[in-house]
Amino acid sequence: MILERRPDSMARINTPELAQAFIDDQLRRIREQVGDKKVLLALSGGVDSSVVAALLIKAIGQQLTCVHVNHGLLRKGEPEQVIEVFRNQMNANLIYVDAVDRFLDKLAGVTDPETKRKIIGGEFIEVFAEEARKLDGIEFLAQGTIWPDILESEAGIKAHHNAGGLPDDLKFELVEPVRILFKDEVRVVGEKLGLPHGMVYRQPFPGPGLGVRCPGAITRDRLEAVRESDAILREEFDKNGLAEKVWQYFTVVPDFRSTGVKDGKRAFEWLCIVRAIITTDVMTATVAEIPHELMVHITDRITHEVPGINRVLYDFTPKPTATVEYE
Ligand code: XMP
Repeated sequence: MILERRPDSMARINTPELAQAFIDDQLRRIREQVGDKKVLLALSGGVDSSVVAALLIKAIGQQLTCVHVNHGLLRKGEPEQVIEVFRNQMNANLIYVDAVDRFLDKLAGVTDPETKRKIIGGEFIEVFAEEARKLDGIEFLAQGTIWPDILESEAGIKAHHNAGGLPDDLKFELVEPVRILFKDEVRVVGEKLGLPHGMVYRQPFPGPGLGVRCPGAITRDRLEAVRESDAILREEFDKNGLAEKVWQYFTVVPDFRSTGVKDGKRAFEWLCIVRAIITTDVMTATVAEIPHELMVHITDRITHEVPGINRVLYDFTPKPTATVEYE
């Protein structure tokens, strides 16, 4: 059976050898728990759910069904990477749900940040539940719960974000093969399982995705501007060795326009804010120092390559007083 609690004596998994020992042990435990039954997994493409998927594919192969919901708020290239890695390379049983219109239609005109978050979370459960009901004979639900989730929910710091949420007719037994691991250990195990480095070491990304980086009512064009500017920022940070040094970095495009000039004509367009922070625990954060020349280059690319953006700003505010995200 899957271990419920992290043994006090457990060594930190920080080498490929320790990762392999963990993987071998978990494969045995997963097979013992699941037998010949079927398992369902919501696969976002984040580190935790990706490692759980890779473990389960190794342990039970086609008995696992992964559901990837594209809610339209993912970063550029993410849904494609999930399909490439899990369906094409690992031969997983993957259901890809294009729910982009559904989410964006529900979010149209909604400006309140908390309401936006609730709509995204609620709709996600609904889409996932619909897919689950289409499948026969599922008895288990796999989740990427990790040890800090358990500790934080026990300490009353936050509700365990993975705990349930599914309607009553969909009560499955849980399979949580990384629940005794810390985040850094999940990454070491993920690399040993052969997941791409970029997937395993990707920066944190909030559940509501780009939705919280598009302050105000989300529109398709502004959302596209967030996605494209974020992709440029990531590309430049990767190229210039900042991806390892800066803890989290992204762009925000608020619902605000200012006057500019493009090709000799007045351009009344959005502005793009670049946020780059350094932190250890995200409770507080300082602002990353980006070389001036690189910022000038990034600004040039974003204003020339992303439709609708005529201005780029850098956010110099630490946490506190700001939070990391804008909503
Ligand atoms: P804040 O904005 O609260 O962000 O300073 C702290 C860290 O948490 C991430 N974040 C989220 N992660 N679901 C998540 O899984 C969320 O709703 C969410 N909101 C913020 C944020 O990206 C940062 O790393």
